[in-house]
Amino acid sequence: MSDNNYRPATILVHQGRDRDPATGASAIPIYQASTYHHQAGEAGEYDYARCGNPSRDQVEEAIALLEGGVRGFAFASGMAATGSALSLLKSGDHLLASNDLYGGSWRYLTGVLPQQGIKVDLIDTTDPAKVEAAITPQTRALFLETPSNPLFQITDLRAMVAIAKQHNLLTLLDNTFMTPLLQRPLDLGIDIAIHSGTKFLGGHSDLLAGLVTTADPQLAKRIKYFQNSFGAVLAPFDCFLLARGIKTLKLRLEAAQKNARIFAERLLEHPAVGQVIYPGLKDFPGKEEHFSQASGPGAIISFELKSEDQVNALLARVKLPIIAPSLGGVETILTHCWSMSHAAIPASDKRKMGIHPTLLRISVGIEDVEDLWEDFTTALA
Ligand SMILES: Cc1ncc(COP(=O)(O)O)c(C=O)c1O
Repeated sequence: MSDNNYRPATILVHQGRDRDPATGASAIPIYQASTYHHQAGEAGEYDYARCGNPSRDQVEEAIALLEGGVRGFAFASGMAATGSALSLLKSGDHLLASNDLYGGSWRYLTGVLPQQGIKVDLIDTTDPAKVEAAITPQTRALFLETPSNPLFQITDLRAMVAIAKQHNLLTLLDNTFMTPLLQRPLDLGIDIAIHSGTKFLGGHSDLLAGLVTTADPQLAKRIKYFQNSFGAVLAPFDCFLLARGIKTLKLRLEAAQKNARIFAERLLEHPAVGQVIYPGLKDFPGKEEHFSQASGPGAIISFELKSEDQVNALLARVKLPIIAPSLGGVETILTHCWSMSHAAIPASDKRKMGIHPTLLRISVGIEDVEDLWEDFTTALA
């Protein structure tokens, strides 16, 4: 398939390659080979699997097509994708990032980058004036997450792009929560989109993967150089699983989002529940900004229970959701952000960020929502 103008549902199914060029097989095989024969001493299209592999090409082309990039890159995990995209920075550079971030990104930005001589400041990116004020002569990039994880703070991507252009900064967005189906950051001028493919793109909680794409050929060249040099590439079997998951993303995401809308409305009415944070709710604070840059609320909800005892009761009794630090699977996943997804962040920092032990995040799956709700209310009874 070479036509870039297909609509997303078609791209998801056919991706960049919908049949094996060598055999016509309807699925790109798992090319489980580390190296390739050099005919008469000459390398062909492929020469060594860290540099390129047909199974990996499929998912790399898929993410580029879906996000509108010139080239995609597949990594061994979402964090490997984030770290590899941030390899564009060098010692002495200054990075500004959203202060409500996935815990693993927080750990990388605050624990690893400073060791490499990169200064990082976590700031409130929902306020463009605060971003402007935090820029120094050394600032080189903005690392963003919107909606943020787990508090769903909304950063205005167009405003960030305008600031970045003015100050010659690179913009990177973790688009995991939304997927390219609901939010297309490169269209808004963001330089680099990053995904944990472990989540909605894979969709079955059976692999770790990371994806990066950019519309800038020069940046793509530099990321390719780092990907090949560092070597945290996605293995062929995981490429196969990811490509297979991507084919059904639209069906899964629409079904999960439909369930999430119903679940969020019902959570609002439940006596044990305090705050419910979900872009699909009428009173969601960042609603206007979110829907100016995204086409749906997604399938993840954060909510507070009124006491820690209720949290413990829910986690002990609920049967259907897997209780785990992840999201985006066909099954509902319930996360205690304090001890799971954001465990890497010290307690005092978490409290400052607004992450309390009573906060839960639910990634609503595609089960029957009535079964999910009955399970939830029974566990809390
Ligand atoms: C928003 C977000 N970004 C990045 C990551 C990291 O992805 P991975 O676990 O695939 O390394 C996660 C994982 O939970 C995430 O939720």
